[in-house]
Amino acid sequence: MDLFEAAKAVREKAYAPYSGFLVGAALRTPSGVFAGCNVENVAYPEGTCAEAGAIAAMCAAGERVIEEVLVIADSPEPVTPCGGCRQKLAEFAAPEVVVTLAGLEGPRARMTVAELLPGAFAKGHLE
Ligand code: THU
Repeated sequence: MDLFEAAKAVREKAYAPYSGFLVGAALRTPSGVFAGCNVENVAYPEGTCAEAGAIAAMCAAGERVIEEVLVIADSPEPVTPCGGCRQKLAEFAAPEVVVTLAGLEGPRARMTVAELLPGAFAKGHLE
């Protein structure tokens, strides 16, 4: 499945009555594509990002390895994952995994997980 089409479709399902900012995220794993949208809450900090939803869907399917990421939003500048989502992605994605930042018309920029989160706190730090 095409990551852009998956993320674009799930973005339409976003629940964002407070910001009005719809976001979709799609992850490729060895077995398929998992997508998520942002889900806001009247208690604002309880809202969740599209990336978190996609990661939850991936884990619910038993998958643990992210091979590719695409995030889509309608914004003047390409939308990058927030700081928390960079850490969430780094849990399952190797530093060289590509994160494509897309607008409604298509991909606009590409970054790696390492570029998004240099010096990530990682499992090795726990040893
Ligand atoms: N948001 C995401 O879902 N992912 C991002 O990468 C950036 C921000 C959401 C959170 C909130 O619902 C809305 O966008 C505005 O911040």
